[in-house]
Amino acid sequence: MKILFEGFSKLYMRKRYQRLQEAGFLMPADISYLSSGGLQDLELADHFIENAIGYMQIPLGVASNFRIDGVDRIIPMAVEETSIIAAASKTARWVREEGTLTTGIEGKCIIGQIQLAVVSNFEKFSKVISQEKMGLIELANRDVAHGLVARGGGVQDLTIRSVARPDGKTMGIIHVYLDPVDAMGANIMNQVCEYLRGPIQKISGETVNMCILSNLVDSRVTWAEVRLPRIDSDLGNRIAEASLFAELDPYRAATNNKGVLNGVDPILVATGNDWRAVEAGVHAYAARSGQYRSITRWTYTKELGLVGRFEAPLIAGTVGGVTKLHPTAKVSLQILGIESASELSRIMAAVGLVQNLGALKALTTVGIIEGHMRLHIRNLTLGAGALEKESPILQR
Ligand code: MEV
Repeated sequence: MKILFEGFSKLYMRKRYQRLQEAGFLMPADISYLSSGGLQDLELADHFIENAIGYMQIPLGVASNFRIDGVDRIIPMAVEETSIIAAASKTARWVREEGTLTTGIEGKCIIGQIQLAVVSNFEKFSKVISQEKMGLIELANRDVAHGLVARGGGVQDLTIRSVARPDGKTMGIIHVYLDPVDAMGANIMNQVCEYLRGPIQKISGETVNMCILSNLVDSRVTWAEVRLPRIDSDLGNRIAEASLFAELDPYRAATNNKGVLNGVDPILVATGNDWRAVEAGVHAYAARSGQYRSITRWTYTKELGLVGRFEAPLIAGTVGGVTKLHPTAKVSLQILGIESASELSRIMAAVGLVQNLGALKALTTVGIIEGHMRLHIRNLTLGAGALEKESPILQR
């Protein structure tokens, strides 16, 4: 794998394909598909969305040097921002050489919500739903989520919440907890909630107003951790101070989290996943204490060195949606070499955390202009009409 990564960014595209093929990440058919410009099938575009008129092409690249949970990974990223893949690969090399990058997931289930706008007697409602809970779960699993049950998932639990309304009445909300296995689970969750609408109304005598999944999935939280035990203490302290800034100040937290999502969104796009859902979930999770905070924390101590942690819901799928329909998403999943949605989520957490580390290191040392603008200036010169061969002269 080290050979694959060596000098990767300096190679011509043809050579990059060759290396990726030799290492088993790309097949000859993938290379001809990618090198001829990727997806051009307009019928498929028409199939994906309403009123299609074409494709918006975004560059697809691979970040190198990642070793996550002891496994070497090539990270496909679809993104227009010039410095992201370069920064990810560079920072990943630092972590690979000097430290560790580990990940995990707490919880399995995603959340669906069934709203009863006004519940006339909440105590009675809560009691009757609790009594009938197992029956409702069985019903949903038998009639709607049987495919998931066969794969080890399905509806696992129902809980009941009350929310005080401004008019003094009580709103009732039922949360449906469902293990979507390898799917992102949005469609099946919505089907389950809508299916339960009738039985819930029947047994409670109350009226359901709406059903939809929640993107604030605090029941399935992905974490990643970087440890750099030998980091220079001055740099370690600077990064910890930058992290404290983002923890305490929402203005900085927003930008910090944008930098983390620089590592997450491009993987979501490359694999055909719903990045708006993940964005919504991450930001809601970042604000769960009532104040918007950073989703990463970095601390420095002499004993442990620099320790960074990412924690947020990152719900994505490896089946369903367009993940298996969009040929580029299929190639990206193949490059990642993953078996499950949880692996995808853990890889995204790891890349987001490393991306954040790269940004904090730059911001607390040379500043952002150095790396960011040096790469961006190439686009500016090309945008101003310079030829590819003239751009390096203008950048001097
Ligand atoms: C730019 O895309 C991302 C940064 O602003 C992130 C950060 O400030 O942490 C550099």
